[in-house]
Amino acid sequence: MNINDKIKHVAIIMDGNGRWAQNRCRPRVWGHIRGSSIVSDIVEEADDLGLHALTLYAFSTENWSRPLGEVTTLFNLLKKFLLKERRKILKNRVRFKVIGDVSNLPLPTRELINKLEKETKDFKGLKLSFAFGYGGRNEMINAVNKWAQSNPERPFSEEDMEANLYQPDLGDVDLLIRTGGDQRISNFLLWQMAYAELFFTPTKWPDFTREEFRGIIYQVSGRERRFGTIGATESLDESCLLARKNLEELNQIYR
Ligand code: FPP
Repeated sequence: MNINDKIKHVAIIMDGNGRWAQNRCRPRVWGHIRGSSIVSDIVEEADDLGLHALTLYAFSTENWSRPLGEVTTLFNLLKKFLLKERRKILKNRVRFKVIGDVSNLPLPTRELINKLEKETKDFKGLKLSFAFGYGGRNEMINAVNKWAQSNPERPFSEEDMEANLYQPDLGDVDLLIRTGGDQRISNFLLWQMAYAELFFTPTKWPDFTREEFRGIIYQVSGRERRFGTIGATESLDESCLLARKNLEELNQIYR
């Protein structure tokens, strides 16, 4: 079985950092710091598995309401990641992008993001996106408004929506993984997840490993994905075939 036939784009909600730290009597930010060190491993594994796209939920629009210290830590972790991983991203021809509203990030971090996005925009390797300052509803409202500015006369279509999302060629999500035990989508990639397979693991993000990631991808690639249809074949077992034959005979008699 080739996993890439079924799973091309994986999105991850990296949840459970705060609880992971609190369970160890540490401040919540400790969990984020530990969690950020896992990110690079998972990116590498996604690349090794031949995935086309990996989108990581690093900071949601709702996360703005967290304590300032926690928000600042998350900003700093993003900056550190950009500085530390830049060479590897370039070497592996990974196309890097941040989706969301980053206008409130410190200028040096925005400059690092812009630089890396520009440097990697033509790369054909893994599409790595960080959702930062991201909300699925905001993304859709932003897309509609962007479109309306230039097309006031025409009805809005699915293609128009896709063309105006933060990253138009990102494509639908095939698999959403959420760590930390909760079973929610939390305003993540609402449009792109219309037919995503969902996988919820109790593992908290700082304990998530390449092995668990790989195992989930293999497990889910065995699922049948029907996209609202009845599947590849309408398989009738023998008893159904017999029932159908009897029905046809009855129809003959009573016609
Ligand atoms: C949710 O855990 C996680 C986040 C809000 C942030 C996720 C961020 C990282 C894993 C690190 C970011 C790294 C980079 C490189 C940008 P939570 O705090 O809600 O956990 P809880 O549910 O246990 O409280």
